Amino acid sequence: MPSPRILILGATGGLGRALKRHFGARNDLTCWGRAEMDFEKPDEISAKLAKQDFDVVLNAAGMTSPDVCEVQPERALLANVVAPQIIAECCERKGARMVQFSTDYVFSGEPHDLWREEDETKPVNVYGRTKLGGETAVLKACPHALVARVSWLFGPDKPSHPDNVIQRAMQTEELTAVADKVSAPTSNSDICRWLERLILEYPDTHGVLHLCNSGIASWHTWAEAALNIAETLGVPVRTTRVQPVELASLTQFKAQRPVMTLMSNAKLQGLLREEIRNWHDALEEYLVQKYQPK
Ligand SMILES: NC(=O)c1ccc[n+]([C@@H]2O[C@H](COP(=O)([O-])OP(=O)(O)OC[C@H]3O[C@@H](n4cnc5c(N)ncnc54)[C@H](OP(=O)(O)O)[C@@H]3O)[C@@H](O)[C@H]2O)c1
Repeated sequence: MPSPRILILGATGGLGRALKRHFGARNDLTCWGRAEMDFEKPDEISAKLAKQDFDVVLNAAGMTSPDVCEVQPERALLANVVAPQIIAECCERKGARMVQFSTDYVFSGEPHDLWREEDETKPVNVYGRTKLGGETAVLKACPHALVARVSWLFGPDKPSHPDNVIQRAMQTEELTAVADKVSAPTSNSDICRWLERLILEYPDTHGVLHLCNSGIASWHTWAEAALNIAETLGVPVRTTRVQPVELASLTQFKAQRPVMTLMSNAKLQGLLREEIRNWHDALEEYLVQKYQPK
């Protein structure tokens, strides 16, 4: 099968950059950031896509801050629902495949076993509601699209929770992190690898699929894991201990956060017939690469 022509949207974001690096070496790749396609100008999207040749669109663009979405819901609607729908319509017309990234925040966060793809969605904030709206709109316009729900991303392309905690721990011993909010930290590099297999080996996969590492973490256990790994790598952190706090004690958030959004990756595991590694192993690999470059 010839290498598919891939168009990455949101190529300046954390996941978008990881996708660009991963697919760049081996595929006919086009990468667009907001400068090339602004999701808040929906009238321009169809014409731009019509002029571009591609077999696969990876849409990693969107309004991703729950707090910004909460106070700017009209912009969130454009970025997370309206634009993805137009892109899906274009993909359907061209016979191209679309991958729309979505989130564990489509779930309510109420106490639950691992959330499976078919479980009821009930987002608690504008971000989750618009991302869910995007899922529905994309699959309606392009039934062969893949909606890839991901959670708690980390990797070299954009600092996230473990990077921030390690940075803070080099300055102070006074660290806190929320202990009663859980999900699965997920490596952007692993997502790229899974996605490559899904695109090349399973081109018919469509609908909703959870793309997350195995295991469970809170922001607190994730933080302490990062500090312990960093310390063994010789990073001059002043502590590996983090004071656990409750989500309810944080008053700075504009948007409510769901509490328990840990997703099942059994479907991904069955599809790829490979063991999906634990987030801790993926985090260790990432921090070794960051702090002990060869
Ligand atoms: N990060 C996580 O922990 C996490 C968790 C669950 C799900 N997700 C999902 O994973 C995907 C990628 O997330 P990420 O962390 O890589 O996001 P990110 O780093 O915030 O990047 C978002 C990308 O979207 C672009 N963008 C934002 N508004 C736009 C607009 N109006 N028009 C065009 N482009 C726009 C940004 O461009 P600029 O650089 O110009 O702003 C950037 O390239 C998203 O679908 C997100 O919902 C992420």
